[in-house]
Amino acid sequence: MIPVVSLDQFDRYVDQEIQLQGWLYNRRSKGKILFLILRDGTGIVQGVMGKKDVPDEVFEQAAHTPYESSVIVRGIVKKDKRAPGGFELWLKDFQVQRPAQPDYPISLKEHGPDFLLSHRHLWIRHGKAHATLKVRDKLIQAIRRYFAQQGFVNVDAPIFTPSACEGTTTLFEVDYFDDQKAYLTQSGQLYMEAAAMAFGKVYCFGPTFRAEKSKTRRHLSEFWMVEPEMAYATLDDVMDLAEDFVYQIVQEVLETCPRELELLERDVEKLKKVRPPFPRLRYDEAVELLHKKGMEFSWGDDFGAPHETAISQEFDKPVLIHRYPAAIKAFYMKPDPQDPRLALGVDMLAPEGYGEIIGGGERADSLEFLEQQIQKHGLRKEDFEWYLDLRRYGSVPHGGFGLGLERTLAWICGNHHVRECIPFPRMMTRIYP
Ligand code: 4AD
Ligand code: MG
Repeated sequence: MIPVVSLDQFDRYVDQEIQLQGWLYNRRSKGKILFLILRDGTGIVQGVMGKKDVPDEVFEQAAHTPYESSVIVRGIVKKDKRAPGGFELWLKDFQVQRPAQPDYPISLKEHGPDFLLSHRHLWIRHGKAHATLKVRDKLIQAIRRYFAQQGFVNVDAPIFTPSACEGTTTLFEVDYFDDQKAYLTQSGQLYMEAAAMAFGKVYCFGPTFRAEKSKTRRHLSEFWMVEPEMAYATLDDVMDLAEDFVYQIVQEVLETCPRELELLERDVEKLKKVRPPFPRLRYDEAVELLHKKGMEFSWGDDFGAPHETAISQEFDKPVLIHRYPAAIKAFYMKPDPQDPRLALGVDMLAPEGYGEIIGGGERADSLEFLEQQIQKHGLRKEDFEWYLDLRRYGSVPHGGFGLGLERTLAWICGNHHVRECIPFPRMMTRIYP
């Protein structure tokens, strides 16, 4: 029996005959030799077929099979330092499982972004798109491993919710039963606060939705967020966690994805510098920094993308900005006891202009204050009674944050746009495929 071996296992089969199940990716020919580039999902390998090594009809078929036909090949695994991936496959047989139509739409030359997005279902087979999604998987594993090791319990939040968490302007409304309205979740945070009071340290990780009419390279209408929450935690504890977490997951991806990062042409030296301590600036200090750089900015405004980029350019590590004006932050943030105009919130900005990857902070733990906030923000109190119960029954200082998976991945991979960092992006102007 000749074993069926995937490409990521080739190092265990050097000089042995194996079968590979995959697809024909590309082809070159040089007289009596065919170079058949094969992919199997785990990698890419060059298969070499000499005319004299196979029956004539097999050689002819291999020479004319359309790209992306599914194929099963047999050959001997050869170590080859020059080959991408380190191996070649010396082919002895080539069987077409199902021929592809000859008009496969994606060629290895450049296509425009819109064309590629419309062919996303095929595009994910290729190059940087494929590598990015591999890194995404490893990043998700690193995130889950981190929280498991730190003793966090995974308690997931619902996707249908009765109310807003991050402001009413970015809610997707859906019809629920009996003429009720429901909203797609903007954040699992409020539910994580309940869970933290039950389990101590918790996190949720899932899709979240924002109806922002925003077309920037940082915005998706559906994105994934991981949200840890801790009971008996202050803003400083939240910042310490955010810093260690980002450090650990970046280092793990550097270890697990060297080939993907190389294919993505990522300058990994920049990522290696992501080590604690990260700079921490008060909002006030960040504003001062912008003024020093000659940028116009009034105290009290929120940072836009150009401001975030200008701040992050000053550092070669992620930077934490804390104590924002309360007026620009969500209703649940705890006011700074030193200066109640400020909220005990924190954002983390990634280096190299990738912008905010984390938002979080310490939560208001006083019942009276939250009741006022709910009123001030025009929210319906009856929707939040359950949330207020958390302050009625055993309230403690607590906090956490949300990290946007796609923005973090865009930064780690050096991808320009977050739409490349989710398998099937949902944006203002796109819901296909
Ligand atoms: O800053 P945000 O809105 O914070 C929250 O939702 C908190 N309730 C989280 C918490 O404390 N548990 O969102 C958190 C992160 C942002 O820093 C960003 O990385 C990402 O989610 N994010 C988006 N990513 C892609 N597209 C969008 N439209 C995003 N909006 C936020
Ligand atoms: Mg934010």
